[in-house]
Parts: sequence; C-alpha cells; structure tokens
Amino acid sequence: MIAAQPPSPDLTGKLAVITGASRGLGRRAAVRLAAHGATALLVARTESALAETARTIQSRGGGGAVVLPADLSDPSVVDNLKASARQHGRASILVNAAGVFGPIQMIKDSDPHLWINTQMLNTVAPTSPVAPSCPT
Ligand SMILES: NC(=O)c1ccc[n+]([C@@H]2O[C@H](COP(=O)([O-])OP(=O)(O)OC[C@H]3O[C@@H](n4cnc5c(N)ncnc54)[C@H](OP(=O)(O)O)[C@@H]3O)[C@@H](O)[C@H]2O)c1
Repeated sequence: MIAAQPPSPDLTGKLAVITGASRGLGRRAAVRLAAHGATALLVARTESALAETARTIQSRGGGGAVVLPADLSDPSVVDNLKASARQHGRASILVNAAGVFGPIQMIKDSDPHLWINTQMLNTVAPTSPVAPSCPT
C-alpha cells in the first residue's frame, strides 16, 4: 500500500524563527522550512555552525536565511535578538529546538549556575519575546 503524501506547503513570504538551528533538529527544521519558501532566522550560539546551515539553505534554493547568533539563556541577549529579528519582519513560524540536557550529575556536585542556565534556556527562553506571537 502506498501512503498518501501530505500537500507540500508554500511558505513563500513567511518568516520563521528557528532556535537551535546550528545542528540537530533545529538545523533540519530550518533547512526544510526554507526549502518550502520561508525565510529562516537562524538562532544559536555558534555563528560558524549557523553559517553552515545558511549555506545549506542557500545551496538548495527556496527561501533565504539570516544568521542571528545569541545565547538564549541570557535575557538581555534575548531582548537584543527580538529587536534584530523584527528588522526582518513579523515571524509567523517558531521552532524552539534550542535546548540542553543536563547537567547530569549529583546535585551536591553540580554547579547551580549551570542549572539556572539550563532552566533559562529550556523553560524561559521558549516563552520569551522571541516567540513571534508576542506583541512588541
Ligand atoms: N534528538 C532527539 O531525539 C530529541 C528527543 C527529544 C527531545 N529532544 C530535545 O530537542 C532539542 C533539540 O534536540 P537536538 O537533538 O537537535 O539537540 P542538539 O543537537 O544538542 O542541538 C541543540 C541546539 O541548541 C543550541 N543551544 C544550546 N544551548 C544554547 C543556548 N544557550 N542558546 C542558544 N542556543 C543554544 C545548540 O547550538 P549552540 O551550541 O551553537 O548554541 C544546538 O543548535 C533539545 O532540547 C533536546 O533535548 C531531542
């Protein structure tokens, strides 16, 4: 039996914010969204890896890519990111793929700052003003 393919969405003119776009799920989502015509705003800390994602997008045609390096565990950086993102228009797609899994160790041995950073990234940043539906 051949499964029916879902219709290919036309995302031309749409702006998508993809966090964690430097590798893994975020990179794959960004490449796929751009292949359907969206302009992808690529967010993560590692600029060189974001640039690699942008090159992949550009080599395949479709929508464009904008590299916006940012540490999402830092609220002041997120504020700057919001301003930068809005220079490109109003985003209607958000992929929150930035995340960390850790630190994995005994609480007595762990660095509280790492826990705070993990919480900021995994639970606070996804609800931050980076979310395109948030008002200015
Ligand atoms: N892969 C799976 O099967 C799976 C399953 C369930 C859940 N998840 C969750 O889905 C998310 C993505 O998974 P993945 O496999 O793609 O993970 P990954 O390959 O480790 O990628 C994580 C992404 O988050 C970015 N990132 C990490 N810290 C950041 C920070 N402080 N600010 C901005 N960006 C940051 C990383 O880029 P930089 O290092 O360049 O900043 C990277 O692009 C993770 O939260 C993971 O726990 C994954």
